[in-house]
Amino acid sequence: MARQMRAAYYEEFGGVEKIKIGNIDIPEIKEGEVLVKIKAAAVNPVDAAVREGYLKDYLPYRFPVIPGWDMCGTIEERGFSARRFQVGDEVYAYARRPWVHFGTFAEYIVIPESYLAFSPRTIPWEETAGIPLVGLTAYQSIYDAGNLQEGQTVLILGASGGVGSLGIQLAKIRGARVIAVASKKNQDYMKELGADETIDYTGTNISEATRAVCPEGVDLIFDCAAGQTLQQSLSALKHTGKLVSILHQGQGLDPKIDFQYVFVEPNSSQLLHMSTLVEAGKLQIWVNKVYTLDETAAALTQIQTHHTTGKIVIVP
Ligand SMILES: NC(=O)c1ccc[n+]([C@@H]2O[C@H](COP(=O)([O-])OP(=O)(O)OC[C@H]3O[C@@H](n4cnc5c(N)ncnc54)[C@H](OP(=O)(O)O)[C@@H]3O)[C@@H](O)[C@H]2O)c1
Repeated sequence: MARQMRAAYYEEFGGVEKIKIGNIDIPEIKEGEVLVKIKAAAVNPVDAAVREGYLKDYLPYRFPVIPGWDMCGTIEERGFSARRFQVGDEVYAYARRPWVHFGTFAEYIVIPESYLAFSPRTIPWEETAGIPLVGLTAYQSIYDAGNLQEGQTVLILGASGGVGSLGIQLAKIRGARVIAVASKKNQDYMKELGADETIDYTGTNISEATRAVCPEGVDLIFDCAAGQTLQQSLSALKHTGKLVSILHQGQGLDPKIDFQYVFVEPNSSQLLHMSTLVEAGKLQIWVNKVYTLDETAAALTQIQTHHTTGKIVIVP
């Protein structure tokens, strides 16, 4: 008989009331895969979007679905040919697989070892879990798609959330100037993360506020907010500047804007780089709240507000 683990799961798409907590079979460990005992798993807006069924036409799925794409933990067992890590090694991953089926809000996950990187040795599990999805999103948007350079200026929209919090810090590590946008309550938080200037999107025209502190316009807009905030910001972009969005897919944009949409991909080398940045004290994660596995529905309700500051995490 298959071994079992406690997990949060759902058997049909819908609201948070679909979430159940119970025992699920641990899958067989196949070639190149490892069994990881999960110590903590961060919660992301996409977990709620997938559960609602918003992505069902784009990502193949199989019920029951265990939600969650972020995790950290220890290697428990290795499958045939899985030799990058030893049993007991501490690892973390952005664990989005081709099928939406086995996620990270559970005691264990079976995953190809190629997804994993050694986790930072200097911070607690709850903080480590908060890095992969948002860290890779910010990394791939600001460094890869945005190609932000030392001395340039980036305007980050939605800069107090999970992605934006890492985005501010990665841009500062690159030597850029950061203008960060969120609501009033998060202005001090964004400054603490390293933002040079902050803008409250409520009751302010974002382009005017940006031009007031950066008259020549910004080199990069990193959009984690979309909607009115994005529309208002566009005239703050230099004509040679670039717009990178993780929400807007380019419909209706002025074709003269150099635009790229990013959908985050697993990347263990970039995760390893972020481990070194954390260990060097250059990258920090602020965990707003820790939930138990039994509180998964409450955690998903919070992330659906789209006003979470920092990260929220589930400890199974
Ligand atoms: N394409 C991808 O690969 C990818 C990857 C990761 C995330 N995403 C998406 O990107 C979005 C951000 O992700 P996240 O994890 O950072 O979300 P999050 O942790 O929920 O943070 C959202 C942040 O946006 C701010 N915000 C809300 N409304 C805003 C507005 N009108 N103008 C400016 N800022 C606003 C909030 O600040 P206040 O509370 O101060 O308003 C909050 O700090 C989500 O929709 C997520 O699904 C996409």
